[in-house]
Amino acid sequence: MRSLVLFPLLFSFVLGQDPASFVNPLIGTAKDGHVFPGATLPHGMVKVGMDTDSPGNHAGYDANPSFLVTGFSQLHDDGTGGAAPLSNFKIFPSANCSSFETCPTSINDRKISRTLRTDGTPEDFASPGYFSTSLSSGVQVRLTATRRTSLQRYTFPPNAHGLLPRINVDITNDGQQSSQGPTITIDPSTGRVTGGSNFRASFGPGHYKAFTCVDFRIVTPKTSPQTVTPVEYGVWSSAGPVRGKVTAAGVLSGSSAPLGALLTFPAVERAPTDILVRSGVSLISTEQACANAEAEIPDFDLINVANAARAQWNDVLGRVEVEIAHGQEDLRVLFYSSLYRSHLSPADYTGENPLWSSTEPYYDSFYCNWDTYRTLYPLYSLHDPERFAQIVRGMINIQQHEGWLPECRGATQKQWVQGGSNGDPIVAEFFVKFQQQAASLNVSAESLYASLVADAENPPPIFELQGRQVDAWKQYHYLPVDSRETIAGSTNARVVSRALEYAFDDFTISQVAKLLGNQADAAKYAARAGYFVNNWNPNITMPDGPPSVVGMMQPRKLDGSFTYTDPRHCSANDPTHSTCFFNPGAVDGFYEGSPLLYSQYVPHDMATLIKLQGGRQNFIDRLDFIIDNGYFDVTDEPGQQIPFMYHYANNPGKSTQRSRQTITQFFNTTVYGLPGNDDGGAMGSYVFFIMVGLYPVPATQHFLLSSPFFPSVSFFNPLFQTKTTIRAKNLSPQAIFVKSVMIDGKHWRSNCFIEWDVFVRGAMIELELSEDPNLPCGVLPPSLSTGGFS
Ligand SMILES: *[C@@H]1O[C@H](CO)[C@@H](O)[C@H](O)[C@H]1NC(C)=O
Ligand SMILES: *[C@@H]1O[C@H](CO)[C@@H](O)[C@H](O)[C@H]1NC(C)=O
Ligand SMILES: *[C@@H]1O[C@H](CO)[C@@H](O)[C@H](O)[C@H]1NC(C)=O
Ligand SMILES: *[C@@H]1O[C@H](CO)[C@@H](O)[C@H](O)[C@H]1NC(C)=O
Repeated sequence: MRSLVLFPLLFSFVLGQDPASFVNPLIGTAKDGHVFPGATLPHGMVKVGMDTDSPGNHAGYDANPSFLVTGFSQLHDDGTGGAAPLSNFKIFPSANCSSFETCPTSINDRKISRTLRTDGTPEDFASPGYFSTSLSSGVQVRLTATRRTSLQRYTFPPNAHGLLPRINVDITNDGQQSSQGPTITIDPSTGRVTGGSNFRASFGPGHYKAFTCVDFRIVTPKTSPQTVTPVEYGVWSSAGPVRGKVTAAGVLSGSSAPLGALLTFPAVERAPTDILVRSGVSLISTEQACANAEAEIPDFDLINVANAARAQWNDVLGRVEVEIAHGQEDLRVLFYSSLYRSHLSPADYTGENPLWSSTEPYYDSFYCNWDTYRTLYPLYSLHDPERFAQIVRGMINIQQHEGWLPECRGATQKQWVQGGSNGDPIVAEFFVKFQQQAASLNVSAESLYASLVADAENPPPIFELQGRQVDAWKQYHYLPVDSRETIAGSTNARVVSRALEYAFDDFTISQVAKLLGNQADAAKYAARAGYFVNNWNPNITMPDGPPSVVGMMQPRKLDGSFTYTDPRHCSANDPTHSTCFFNPGAVDGFYEGSPLLYSQYVPHDMATLIKLQGGRQNFIDRLDFIIDNGYFDVTDEPGQQIPFMYHYANNPGKSTQRSRQTITQFFNTTVYGLPGNDDGGAMGSYVFFIMVGLYPVPATQHFLLSSPFFPSVSFFNPLFQTKTTIRAKNLSPQAIFVKSVMIDGKHWRSNCFIEWDVFVRGAMIELELSEDPNLPCGVLPPSLSTGGFS
């Protein structure tokens, strides 16, 4: 277990409430999770962490110790795919250079292994706001951060061989080695290094600029941090370091033309030498990077900075409390680590938007809203509405300046849209939950609604980057696979999966229109929400399935006829092993999921879907077929709700079994504990909801209800100053099925959903549980076509 002995620097939270101690940031950091385990604040811009030379280093780090350390860089994303994003401005400590000129500086020459524990794992330690490791050169590394600045402490071993401590500041090697036109300057008297470059976005065509400002202090056993003049300094390039050279500018760079600075510091006599490195970052200028650093970390006090970061984490994590039963310690770690990862992205880049000037908040690293709208933002509604309001204000501000809400934004750039205009369900989720509080949170209802209508009505120049293919949607009520409309710069691929997302997006807009009293728009967008039926071909069966599984979402042509995509296409059972990634011109109709999987994706009108699929029993059989035959892919967001859908067929016990099975089968607290990319908190928030026994329907008042994994869970909402508790009275490994629900001492009408008002007023929800998996819902959760959501 993770003991406090490993964490000697921090002591102020040993007693009292310290939910950060239940977080293991290393979960999902090997193989495909791409989790960021370094030091950051909740939604911090700076995410300082270790970078390794592994192929899957999208968040910099890999827990597998066979991969070597290339440096400690300042910006990362969490859990993404694409090309490795960010990882800018690596700092690297060199302990073993016999001379300045021969010191290996390039990313491939300098890299080094970590020290291993006796069990073969690396000596990496991570905790909210703090990361430490030990390199095989004997250098100990400690990292912490404020919002736009990191503080790093490199402890060099005593210089028994007369080797001096050296620090390398690498300007050009981001995750993709994509730098162009870098600049660097060294101040010889203080050692301050400033620089910046242009870098490539990782999942789109754009470029962004980033700048850094790096300062140094030395600590001896008897002194506090002191300024230190480097004894040697110089710029390095592919030709190695040049002593005394204080400035350089690369015309063109890239992996073959790196640029950085190397500085040598005096060693402390017969003792370890501690060099503190403070890296300020800005997307505006080097001057602003220096100002950020000076304002945020004036005194180089690593313990204070780390404790302040942990206090911020404890504040947000502590709003959800669980009471555990005997033996649930590991489940609690899974739970709080999932909640923790739900607060890494999006990141607060306020003050760092280079594109226009505004006093509104600016958030970035929406990577991508297609992944996160389903569970991440409904989680913020429960316990972090003020942050949610800032994110929404930032999104509306982007729409006002760029025309459309962000979808897959990263590093200030528009990146590839995967589904619909999936900012809509996020902004709508906020308004449906916080209409009464929006004005006091400085969210303008008028601007919010205008941003939704812009997505729904205005054709963008390139719908691969923002907005939607709205003309075709409005004209045909589906997206024709052979559409002849001019699609400048966009490909007419993914027509079925995009249409299903457009339908849900329009549903969420109808909910906002209704709350605003705009009945005409509410009716119009509710009608558009029903267009999903237009892709339904009732005659398609599974080549390997029972005849009861009949009817699939399929592509359609301009003339209304259907084309055929094998329902197994893109699944684990696809005989052609297709991926359904961004294949331009692909006419199969689907993105990262099979027709069978997407045929379940109509969260707002499950009643119609059940009708189309031949009634409740057929629907249940189909869900069983999907899960039992490997068609459910938990890493694929449009399918994530599948284990919970038995609710709509009045069989909630099956949802309870299937959703619990999903967690035990695919998620655990090891470094391999995620089945796929964390996707900016999409996975973390998904695990969170299943473990508390809820599943959200975004932009509605409704949460599907099951039983929590713990005897009790409480949610504190700081905006309402209320606490809501779900108590599972007689929870046991067998008694997990909801038999009846009491809310504040009164019988509640459904075993299958609860409504938002309980979280507004603060309620006690008591579940009586049973061992009987066949209990009914009482009242079914709502669907649009049966009069729900009105
Ligand atoms: C670096 O030097 C230390 C002794 O100062 C030695 O133990 C270690 O093996 C060296 N590491 C490398 C990677 O050269
Ligand atoms: C809303 O804006 C007002 C005026 O600019 C400001 O005083 C207030 O602090 C803001 N409130 C929030 C929650 O941002
Ligand atoms: C489905 O099959 C029925 C019966 O053969 C036929 O009338 C109908 O046109 C078919 N529908 C489609 C969309 O192919
Ligand atoms: C942990 O989860 C991963 C990803 O789903 C899985 O591959 C691995 O087998 C699990 N490990 C344990 C010990 O359960």
